[in-house]
Amino acid sequence: MSLADRVKPYIRSLAPYVPGKPIEELERELGIRGSIKLASNENPLGPSPRAVEAMRAAAAEIHRYPDGASFVLRAALSKKLGVSGDQLVFGAGADEILELIAKTLMGEGDEVVYAWPSFAMYPIVVQGMGATGVAVPLTRDLVHDLDAMLAAIGPRTRVVMLCNPNNPTGTSVGAEAFDRFVAALPADVVLAVDEAYYEFVRRPDFPDAIALTARRPGTVILRTFSKIYGLAGIRIGYGICDRELASYLERARHPFNVNRLAEVAALAALEDDEHYRRTREINAQGAVYLGTELARLGIETWPTDANFLLARTGAEVYDALLSQGVIVRPMKGFGLPDHVRISIGLPEENERFIKALGGILSKRSAGGNATR
Ligand SMILES: Cc1ncc(COP(=O)(O)O)c(C=O)c1O
Repeated sequence: MSLADRVKPYIRSLAPYVPGKPIEELERELGIRGSIKLASNENPLGPSPRAVEAMRAAAAEIHRYPDGASFVLRAALSKKLGVSGDQLVFGAGADEILELIAKTLMGEGDEVVYAWPSFAMYPIVVQGMGATGVAVPLTRDLVHDLDAMLAAIGPRTRVVMLCNPNNPTGTSVGAEAFDRFVAALPADVVLAVDEAYYEFVRRPDFPDAIALTARRPGTVILRTFSKIYGLAGIRIGYGICDRELASYLERARHPFNVNRLAEVAALAALEDDEHYRRTREINAQGAVYLGTELARLGIETWPTDANFLLARTGAEVYDALLSQGVIVRPMKGFGLPDHVRISIGLPEENERFIKALGGILSKRSAGGNATR
């Protein structure tokens, strides 16, 4: 029997997640320097300086295992969110919370309902457990089709994923639609609301999913320190659940899954109101700037509540931007072949992107005219 024959068939047939490449690697490949990366929804301001300082101070202690209970961080976060400490589960990024949900609840024969296009890890994590993903297309406006998702739920459905705001579209579900959806959701289906971009939300009627954990057992919200807190590289995220679900996820968790530096960095970042405020501000301004400029260039975009936006630029624009050192995310793998996703950067990065795109588009229309 070959090794391949011994590997679980659903693992063997997995198409691995293709992450945005690190900037250093891309520059090496393309032989360019000074490029800008607007591809992975990171914080363009960098990490909170307080988080960097806290990690520096903790570096001398890394011969010790971390606090497996994340005691201090748990206390600070539970106070901030208004939930009890035993409703929180920490992981190496929201990715690990997703993995814990999968390990705890999904197996062969089970179904998991999610929208598509949505976060690329959902199908991978679901298939990785031998379960079956049921992908429900977004509406024409690229918003979750909640009625179709409800209709997709069957006796085998264990979990429904709701990515709000949705990656890669930036679109979001408001409180009214969310409440209607939740009211119609069978009680024995676990609801996982992925709020990786929660802190960037601008719409005033965004649902209060945390309140739901108090009245709906089998609810988990995913949050992360990778985005507004600028800690993507150190890997820390968390789940907020009802107590019972938290206790099961805790059983599936490895005791030292969150490292010592991540714990102190997250705590310091949580207390850095100024960094949080500036990030939100620069992102909101960038969203307006990019939306306006893309409209001026005749490019279709979608309303975003996140730190990125989806734009229908045409497929060839991705490579053309890349050759000018502007890295965005192509959306071909998401069934959106004409689209790119642009992470909102610093003002000068956004301007450089628009300038490069403008040049590419005017060349394209000049070329088009020549052939007519
Ligand atoms: C919707 C969504 N969920 C979860 C994650 C995972 O985030 P983390 O870096 O915390 O693992 C991401 C990362 O991009 C995301 O976009």
